[in-house]
Formats: sequence, structure tokens, C-alpha cells
Amino acid sequence: MEEMINANTKVVGVIGYPLGHTLSPQMHNAAFREAGLNFVYLAWEVPPENLEKAIEGVRGLGIVGLNVTIPHKEKVLRLMDDVSEEAEFVGAVNTIHNLGGKLIGYNTDIIGFLKALGKDVRGKTAVVMGAGGAGKAVAYALAKNGARCIILNRTEEKAKALAERLSSIGEVTSNKLSPSVLESLKGEMDILINATSVGMKGEEIEGVGEVLSPKLLVMDLVYNPPLTPLLGKAKAVGAEVVEGWRMLLHQGAASWEIWTGKRAPVGVMEEVLLKNLYGL
Ligand code: ATR
Repeated sequence: MEEMINANTKVVGVIGYPLGHTLSPQMHNAAFREAGLNFVYLAWEVPPENLEKAIEGVRGLGIVGLNVTIPHKEKVLRLMDDVSEEAEFVGAVNTIHNLGGKLIGYNTDIIGFLKALGKDVRGKTAVVMGAGGAGKAVAYALAKNGARCIILNRTEEKAKALAERLSSIGEVTSNKLSPSVLESLKGEMDILINATSVGMKGEEIEGVGEVLSPKLLVMDLVYNPPLTPLLGKAKAVGAEVVEGWRMLLHQGAASWEIWTGKRAPVGVMEEVLLKNLYGL
């Protein structure tokens, strides 16, 4: 790729703090190579006090676009010239597109989630566990696409507030995340999503193992480990499962498409992501 970098190379990248071991540069650069596009994806660790300067830099240097990650996703929203409906609802921007000096903020979590799920959700009953940033994006995506959505959260008030905000878009209700509530929903749920952070350390939401059945579609947004205890159990009972890395892949592909205006080579991105995430 190095020999391709010249005066015409278009620059994109990610900002966050800390950035840790972000896999985005490998994934996006492989996709640029595959598509024969003269783009390069870089990573900039930007401390909170430098966020505004970094965004001015995007305008000043004509950087084509950015991914935005923790802790900047919310604060960057007010620095945009325009934001998509999804980003506005979720209150967070994860993708910026510089259109001739005008910065547009998007949130590709919504399309990324829907593509990962890969199913028509219209008329289905979906239970979303979690009402944080990820839960918001997932519940919005489901409600907007005609699913009946039940949001469950450990802190019930957060689920209630989110359901109220979504009530103008679709049929959305809320409840406390508890074994008895999960049990009461067993008969009616078609789709079950874990949008909490539970599962990263091999733990499991209490009571969730008891509601799994072969007719369920189960997705876990936790992507490390690839097969969380929830997905492992769901698979064992014969349910269809969707691993969290698929959302990571499709939200990245959606950003790539916003910047390039072309269809993303998802196969190559998947290969690079899996290799770098899990050594597969
Ligand atoms: P993210 O952006 O990944 O959604 P977040 O906004 O911090 O992160 O939200 C984390 C979610 O995981 C919340 O829904 C949180 O529940 P609370 O709102 O009650 O905090 C949920 N969560 C985290 N740890 C949990 C646990 N041990 N049991 C149940 N839910 C948990």
C-alpha cells in the first residue's frame, strides 16, 4: 500500500482516547487495497481537551472522514454541521464525513446492527437487554423497522426513559431486567439481544439461560469472547445465534461506504477482523 501513498491520497482515520489496540486501520486499509482506492486509514489518540482542535484539523486539512470512539462520541455531535436522524436519536456520532468542509455526523451502529442480524424484524417481538449507548442504538433500529420491542435494564428507569422516547416510532415497552421478567416473556419473544456489557468475563445475566429455545434468534453485542456463555447456551439448545463481531464488521463497512460512495468489500474486512480479533 505504501507505494500508493502520494499527493492524491485521501485520508481517513479514527480518534479516541485511549485508542488501545484498535483493529480499524487494518480492516479499512485492507478494504481500500482490495477496492484499489487511494485512501489511507490512520489512528489518532486525541485527549478530551484536544477534541475541538482535532475537528478543526479535519476541516483545515481536508481529511475525508473519521471514526469516533470513546470518549468523544457524544461531545463531537455538537461540533458537526449536520447530523443524521440516527446519530441525533442516539446522541452519539461514530462516523464523520467531510463534504467540502461541511462535517456530517452519522451513527453506523444502527445499520451495522441490522446488517449483522440479517433478518426482517417487522412484526417480530424483540427483547433488548441493556439501555446504555448500545441498547439505545439497537432498540431504535428494531422499533424503526417495525419490531415490537421490549427493553429490559438493570436500572429500570433508564429502560423506561428510552422506551418513552421511542414510543412515537414504534411499539416499545420496558421492564426491569430480572429472572422473573425474562421468564414471563419466554412465550412471546422471537429475538433476544444482549446489549449489556455482561459476558466479557464469562459471566451471564441471571435467568437468561432458562428462556432459550430453538425458535429464538439470539444476538450478543459482546464480541470478546466470540462465543459468550449466552451464545454458547443458545447454540446448545438449537437457537440461531449472531456473534457480536458481526456488528463491528458491518458498522465499519457502513462508515467505509459513507466515505467512498462504493460498496464495501465485506469479505476482506471480515477476514482481517477475525484474524486480528481472534487469530483465526
Ligand atoms: P454501552 O455503550 O456498551 O451500552 P453503557 O452505556 O455503559 O455501555 O451501558 C452498559 C449497559 O450494561 C447498561 O444497560 C448497564 O445497566 P445499568 O444501566 O443498570 O448500569 C448494563 N450492565 C452493566 N453491567 C451489568 C450487570 N452486571 N448486570 C446487568 N446489566 C449490566
